[in-house]
Amino acid sequence: MNQAIHILMSGHGTDHMETVQNLASQLPDVNIKKKLLNRGDYDFLDNSDFKADVLIHFLGAKPAMELEALAMQSRRGKLARLAILIVYDQDSAGAQLMRLAMQAGACDFIMGPKLVDDTLTALRTILKKGFHDHPVSGRALTAVINSQGGGGASTIACALAHAFTTRHEIKTLLLDLDLQFGTQCLRLGIESPKGLIDAIASIETLDEVALMAYVAKHSSGLHILHGSIKDISLPGEIDVPQLKRLIELAYKGYEHVVADLPRLIDPVFNMVLEQANHVIIVMQQDISSLRAAQRMIQIMTQDLGLPLERIMPVLNRYESKHSIGLAEVEQVLTLPAITVIPNDFKQLCMAFNLGISIAEHAPNSPATQAILSLADILSGKKKPVKLGLFKQLLSPLFSGA
Ligand SMILES: Nc1ncnc2c1ncn2[C@@H]1O[C@H](COP(=O)(O)OP(=O)(O)OP(=O)(O)O)[C@@H](O)[C@H]1O
Ligand SMILES: [Mg+2]
Repeated sequence: MNQAIHILMSGHGTDHMETVQNLASQLPDVNIKKKLLNRGDYDFLDNSDFKADVLIHFLGAKPAMELEALAMQSRRGKLARLAILIVYDQDSAGAQLMRLAMQAGACDFIMGPKLVDDTLTALRTILKKGFHDHPVSGRALTAVINSQGGGGASTIACALAHAFTTRHEIKTLLLDLDLQFGTQCLRLGIESPKGLIDAIASIETLDEVALMAYVAKHSSGLHILHGSIKDISLPGEIDVPQLKRLIELAYKGYEHVVADLPRLIDPVFNMVLEQANHVIIVMQQDISSLRAAQRMIQIMTQDLGLPLERIMPVLNRYESKHSIGLAEVEQVLTLPAITVIPNDFKQLCMAFNLGISIAEHAPNSPATQAILSLADILSGKKKPVKLGLFKQLLSPLFSGA
């Protein structure tokens, strides 16, 4: 049985808006509501009981301000689950408007002479795909990346995914996106002849049940999708929209996806970041690692528009007697809470070599305990500890990064 799709149209009541409304109302199973905005009114969704599935916003005289307001609402999570179309009654738009529309989570930006036809086509595509371009609400993605090679990102990604599965009974997929040197299967002593590259090659025919043929299955219940053991994948070779579809498919079968990202800022990184509820940046107590983390946070927040609150800095292999202390690290990053994972090379390295999870091999290690605490926070079982306010000034040592 078909369910009605609720479409909210917001804007300033132009002729185009009227025309699109009349034509769209003839589509099957749609329920349309119009929200007319007055000057300076950016309450796109209004407070009625109408729960929209699709928002079509017609930009007015101050398009940048409207998109900024929309992006802000998106950052606050108010537009979650909404498929958003932006309609602009002009022949062209600057990069700034496009960027703002992307930050608001728009799946299309429509303008030009065929505005009405193009809007209806985009709407039909959304209805047909069943909102494939949007993350399914209630499903979580945690991305883990290191600020410098060997920082411990894969160790942490694996331990978190394992903890979600065993400790919190969350159905979890560990996605090894280090397509050249991924180690996730190795560290848990399992393998699968097929992997992510093969799954992407079959994406057109794949459903969440067929996806199971491509994952490696650990005895704990954790599933891993690794790159490829047969072929080497070069940067830029992976088809980002197809990978995005694969992640959306994973949301149907899993409650949590943990993505182990290589240290490479590319379209894959960008797409995964957009999907992520949390981005863990793993660093160590040395200047180059901290500078790289600082730069990475800058790129994520300023260039890619990621809300700062989604970033969780993790200081791995922490030694309390190190010359660069936690206070210095906090000062450099100017972030309110840094998770610390103590150094325990002997135990963690041994677990890796044996192909056993660190929770099984070294359950009492302070490093394991710290990662389990982080898993509790990410799974919503424990509140993060606020460490107070930190100075906004960067240490002169790190300035000019
Ligand atoms: N808290 C820790 N204490 C001691 N050793 C650790 C800790 N975390 C990770 N390691 C060790 O550091 C090494 C590198 O870890 P890992 O492979 O997770 O790093 P990575 O950041 O994913 O590296 P790459 O850049 O190759 O992807 C491993 O030998 C691992 O056992
Ligand atoms: Mg790694």
